[in-house]
Amino acid sequence: MNLADLNKVALAMVTPGQGILAADESSGTIKKRFDAIKVESTEDNRRDYRELLFRSQEAMRQYISGVILYDETIWQNAKDGTPLVRLIEQAGSIPGIKVDEGTQPLPACPGELITVGLDKLADRLKKYYERGARFAKWRAVIDIGADIPSMTAIHANAHALARYAALCQAAQIVPIVEPEVLMDGDHDIDRCVEVTSRVLNKTFQELRIQRVALEGMVLKPNMAVSGKKCARQAPVAEVAEKTVQMLKRCVPAAVPGIAFLSGGQSDEEATAHLDAMNRLGPLPWRLTFSYGRALQAAPQKAWGGRSENVAAAQAAFAHRARMNALASKGQWESGLEKKAA
Ligand code: 13P
Repeated sequence: MNLADLNKVALAMVTPGQGILAADESSGTIKKRFDAIKVESTEDNRRDYRELLFRSQEAMRQYISGVILYDETIWQNAKDGTPLVRLIEQAGSIPGIKVDEGTQPLPACPGELITVGLDKLADRLKKYYERGARFAKWRAVIDIGADIPSMTAIHANAHALARYAALCQAAQIVPIVEPEVLMDGDHDIDRCVEVTSRVLNKTFQELRIQRVALEGMVLKPNMAVSGKKCARQAPVAEVAEKTVQMLKRCVPAAVPGIAFLSGGQSDEEATAHLDAMNRLGPLPWRLTFSYGRALQAAPQKAWGGRSENVAAAQAAFAHRARMNALASKGQWESGLEKKAA
């Protein structure tokens, strides 16, 4: 493992004024997104849609530091035969790959999940590296309910995240470590902070035990937010303060950067929260975005599966990317949203 090079890639992924496009929806998830815009989820339609994003010159060249791909996409070629990975590289962005294989029920823990995909991961990482991937992603899912999460679920998922991260670094690939505490449910923001803190603490304990070099990774956490069904929705300033305080308590300064998931927040909420946090600086690490839905909902709607809408979809993507890029520097203003609309 060459830690200096891993660190260089990790820092590039969290370049101020840039962030990560999470375009790694599994076949099931992209079908759900396409259903919503009445587009059939065929291999060609998935290719056309992702090609549209990666050929979006303004967004990709200026605001997107890296793209997380799904296995199907990393092996796909654009309509003209160029590998999609090359389009990303040509835009000056870094290709990455989701390597977990989804979740399964965790035995003896009703309602809880464990992320799978460690078997043969070392072999898969080698092939992904040869294809151009320089970072990877593994998502653990923790749900909040009356009696969950259990310590068992937190421990088992943290252990798997650290096993994955160690294998990535051995393959000269930067691991994005993503322990996602879901925002479904009626819990308040303080319960989210309590659970997320436990999850982060356990995750970093496991990363240390398994000798993962913190300088060569990126953390992808949820923010501290109220559950979607909670009667009291914490305002932007409270989300920012509580998230930053929680992260300062749990995330070592050796980690080069933190790139948040959007997790079901609205486009503008995800941007406003990131912006408010970056205004609380100076911070020990760079804070940016690694959004899926909060970057893609607008372009998906504008596209609707029609080639005549490609330019409009690219403009919608560029707009969200630019808003979040500004938020990564604490320079976003809500007025900029209205001007564009
Ligand atoms: P969302 O931003 O839509 O939560 O997706 C990010 C992601 O990669 C979740 O694993």
